[in-house]
Amino acid sequence: MTAVAGAAAGAAYIVAALLFILSLAGLSKHETSRRGVTYGIVGMAIALIATVWVTAAGAWGDGPAMFGLVLLVAAVLVGGAIGLWRARIVEMTGMPELIALLHSFVGLAAVLVGWNGALYDTGLEGALADIHHAEVFIGVFIGGVTFTGSIVAFLKLSARISSRPLMLPGKNALNVGALVAFLALTVWYVITPELWLLVAVTALALALGWHLVASIGGGDMPVVVSMLNSYSGWAAAAAGFLLNNDLLIVTGALVGSSGAYLSYIMCKAMNRSFLSVIAGGFGIEAPRASDEEHGEHREIDAEAAADLLAGASRVVITPGYGMAVAQAQHGVADLVQKLRERGVDVRFGIHPVAGRLPGHMNVLLAEAKVPYDIVLEMDEINDDLSSVDVVLVIGANDTVNPAAAEDPTSPIAGMPVLRVWEAGNVIVFKRSMASGYAGVQNPLFYRENAQMLFGDAKEKVDEILFQLSRV
Ligand code: TAP
Repeated sequence: MTAVAGAAAGAAYIVAALLFILSLAGLSKHETSRRGVTYGIVGMAIALIATVWVTAAGAWGDGPAMFGLVLLVAAVLVGGAIGLWRARIVEMTGMPELIALLHSFVGLAAVLVGWNGALYDTGLEGALADIHHAEVFIGVFIGGVTFTGSIVAFLKLSARISSRPLMLPGKNALNVGALVAFLALTVWYVITPELWLLVAVTALALALGWHLVASIGGGDMPVVVSMLNSYSGWAAAAAGFLLNNDLLIVTGALVGSSGAYLSYIMCKAMNRSFLSVIAGGFGIEAPRASDEEHGEHREIDAEAAADLLAGASRVVITPGYGMAVAQAQHGVADLVQKLRERGVDVRFGIHPVAGRLPGHMNVLLAEAKVPYDIVLEMDEINDDLSSVDVVLVIGANDTVNPAAAEDPTSPIAGMPVLRVWEAGNVIVFKRSMASGYAGVQNPLFYRENAQMLFGDAKEKVDEILFQLSRV
């Protein structure tokens, strides 16, 4: 029975792994993303059922294994209930910290699996035992780094601790020293697998994870979250080796490599060095809000904004975090529809780190049923912005800051931005002159062609819609 169950589970795992790969492929395009999510759900359901089934088959009539099955079912029920509840109540703007917290669970699980692998007598000998010991050590190390790193990321993202980077003296030497110590301890453990070495590597990994993320400033947190995503994948893969579970290895490798690639794309988008991010603690001093004023700003009201839009032939909307806070996406979608009915060419320009998580704006716009073909990436639209009549900057700030392109002393210097200031007119929807996530003043607000539309983005969009119906 167990052999049959094992073979069936193996086959189910292959199907699930294929579905996960198809899911990732589907998620890479707007048009196929729904299908991608469905593949992922089906793959995960198959994997879960196969895991429970193989455990049940192995447990039949056997006391301790039966206890394992009861534990498994209880864990799935409790974990599933908590997960469902959190997913239902989480605000879209709170997703990054939830994701960071979830990564910490993967890290903790890898540490526990590693410890279990060390304490459980496998009966392996010779080279196989050495490989097992190396797997235990690597699993515990990656898991430990992921665990504390993700907790610090969660605390920073949810503003429970300051997002300023921790600047310990010789922090790079500390990180490199920790890695060297890990390598030395691994060799030692493989030769003489003593428990204190495992305790030492666990403590080292927990401290390193904490230090790596604590050293990173708030503005660079997006990359950190996707980097931790990657680490959590490798931690899961390491656990898969220990548990002899092929699906966990494949899934972990998928998460690890796609997270690493996403980190690379985001590093490019933010003009950061990929290698220094993976090394951690690249510790660019957290930018602080400067009070320096750049001159006078001009204001516009909804009625004048509606007039400007009614007379425009090309409009681009660059949304940001404020659109998510205001939940203005439905109003924005209505506005787009109204303008298009009037023959105005309307498109969106999406910055890769607009909002608070990768794809944040795309998800909101898809939810509001904005047609995919008018939603363009920053690189696709930047060169067109100079020929646009009106740009609506809706709750975006850092991602449209000209200082990034023009002021080499700016904390965000070199970060590619949407060059909205090249357009004929720019209307900035926000509630005040406050700075954005990076805490940097935005000279855009003082440009000749820029006007501020103060207030909640949703209310202002609704007011413009109302005014447009009268124009
Ligand atoms: P931000 O620079 O954070 O600016 C958002 C603006 O929205 C603020 O200036 C705020 O101004 C305005 N706002 C807030 N609530 C509003 C409301 N209800 N109505 C109207 N306006 C509102 O946003 P961005 O341009 O999207 O840039 C994203 C930033 O977050 C980048 O620095 C990025 O590095 C960082 N970040 C990104 C991610 C990812 S992966 N996307 C993850 C973490 C951090 P007022 O307060 O004056 O209204």
